[in-house]
Amino acid sequence: MDAKVAKKNLNWAELGFQYLRTDFRFSACHVDGEWQAGSLVEDENISVHEGAPALHYAQQCFEGMKAQTAEDGRILLFRPDLNSERMNQAASRLLMPEVPREMFIAAVEETVRANYAWIPPYGSGASLYIRPMLIGVGENLGLKPARSFEFRVFVSPVGPYYKEAGLAVISLAVSGMDRAAPNGTGSYKVGANYAGGLLATRKAQELGASEALYLDAAEGRFIDEAGSANIVIALKDGSLVTPASNAILPSITRRSLMTIASDKLGMSTADRPVELRTEFEDFQEMGACGTAAVLSPVGRIWFDDAWHNVNDDGQTVGPVMQQLYDTLIGIQKGELDDSFGWLHEVDI
Ligand SMILES: Cc1ncc(COP(=O)(O)O)c(C=O)c1O
Repeated sequence: MDAKVAKKNLNWAELGFQYLRTDFRFSACHVDGEWQAGSLVEDENISVHEGAPALHYAQQCFEGMKAQTAEDGRILLFRPDLNSERMNQAASRLLMPEVPREMFIAAVEETVRANYAWIPPYGSGASLYIRPMLIGVGENLGLKPARSFEFRVFVSPVGPYYKEAGLAVISLAVSGMDRAAPNGTGSYKVGANYAGGLLATRKAQELGASEALYLDAAEGRFIDEAGSANIVIALKDGSLVTPASNAILPSITRRSLMTIASDKLGMSTADRPVELRTEFEDFQEMGACGTAAVLSPVGRIWFDDAWHNVNDDGQTVGPVMQQLYDTLIGIQKGELDDSFGWLHEVDI
């Protein structure tokens, strides 16, 4: 079958970051210690037992990645091997079976291919968000691992994550609530880390911020990350730093930006604890980065009961964030040379 069916007639440029039902999703089950052959299904609803550990004890993990259309029509994934690796780290941490790398990549490719009509065209500003997930299903009551699991991949065309489209400046509010404990599950992409953040995000938004910024839970001094993005900071000395912490998600976007900064932009880079209050004066530019957020410059931060501008007026996109953004997006869309070998083309 030729997957290249006509594109859906959507207003691609107007898409926000919302679920839009597409035609197919991939599903495979792990039963009696083995992965069974998976397949594409049309039903977006999952029927699970009321005692499923995913529902009660959050025995589940997920991933987030994107497919982009290049100018020549190629469909490009960005470093999917790292999503596979990260999902398996979460699976092991929560006593779930790993999804073999080949199975993960094949499932993602199959789902993207089957939903070709929903992949935003080149130049639309939108992309296809891909959500792989692994959940503990089946009957259970006590706190013990599930005996069966479902691996599922669904996709949805999306626009910008923050309502400010493109490379627009956002603001963050330091939360009085902790996201993850130093030796907890903060470095894994597991649902258990996110439910507690809903109220923190709501409170940040009530202050007029786009999202919450978390400090380390032990001392409340060092920057951890934002609700759904890691942080990068261009210092006045010309270097780029990113907060090191055991409690943050190892963002694939952040790791890529740090490589771009050192290898392409010739910047000195450091991955180290960053103390907010004592180092803030040295900040030249700041960004929140992730698959969904891409790289959103942060203009101001709320902490100690006041707004603090990162740059002069709190609204300017600085040259470092601009360059990092242009390079990252350029590579992801196949416009710039993929010198790091980060792109994975999906055969259509
Ligand atoms: C808490 C959190 N931090 C950071 C990120 C960014 O990670 P990545 O760049 O791998 O998407 C995400 C996901 O988007 C996230 O949920």
